Amino acid sequence: MHAGATPELRAATRQDLPSIVELERATFPDPWPLSAFESEIASDAPPVVAVCDGALSGYICRMLGPEELHVTNIAVAPARRRQGIAAALLADTIAFATREDCRWIYLDVRPSNEAARALYLRFGFVEIFRRRKYYIRPQEDGLVLARPVELLPRGSAKPDLKDDVPGKTSDGLV
Ligand SMILES: CC(C)(COP(=O)(O)OP(=O)(O)OC[C@H]1O[C@@H](n2cnc3c(N)ncnc32)[C@H](O)[C@@H]1OP(=O)(O)O)[C@@H](O)C(=O)NCCC(=O)NCCS
Repeated sequence: MHAGATPELRAATRQDLPSIVELERATFPDPWPLSAFESEIASDAPPVVAVCDGALSGYICRMLGPEELHVTNIAVAPARRRQGIAAALLADTIAFATREDCRWIYLDVRPSNEAARALYLRFGFVEIFRRRKYYIRPQEDGLVLARPVELLPRGSAKPDLKDDVPGKTSDGLV
């Protein structure tokens, strides 16, 4: 990971919408429309944005279900990648899932998305099944990944959440 400014993480507001939509459109061939982010901001699990030097540099979207949380979207501005921003957003989301008493975190990823898969692997996500032709533009299968909110340190029967921060766990997963 290269050195970068520590991002400020905060809940997204309507004022962030133009920057979020701009990054979304620059990132994905099948971007979410503005209305999707408007709904997210009004939800019980609003997106979290990462702000570096006053500029919106990334966001993560989450959806709460019964005892589970889905990460539905994550993106980091190209100029700010490999600086730990997605890791910070994911760690914040895992902490949120813990506070909300979730047991599992799920997400979907394209098999071809090596950067995202490496990120999720580092956080202890494992592939649980494949959805055939899940993605469009371009068409591709989707991998569904899952992670228990409370990772058990290897060799221990008790969860240890104290160090649930990238690079600081005792289980060697991140
Ligand atoms: C995937 C994405 C969110 C990662 O954001 P990021 O801020 O660059 O990721 P981080 O800097 O926090 O990386 C944390 C770790 O993830 C892994 N990782 C991230 N990007 C990687 C890459 N391009 N290649 C290999 N590993 C990568 C590494 O283990 C990295 O740690 P390191 O830099 O110490 O090696 C970013 O590349 C992105 O926005 N991609 C386009 C949108 C997208 O694909 N979203 C996911 C949809 S499922």
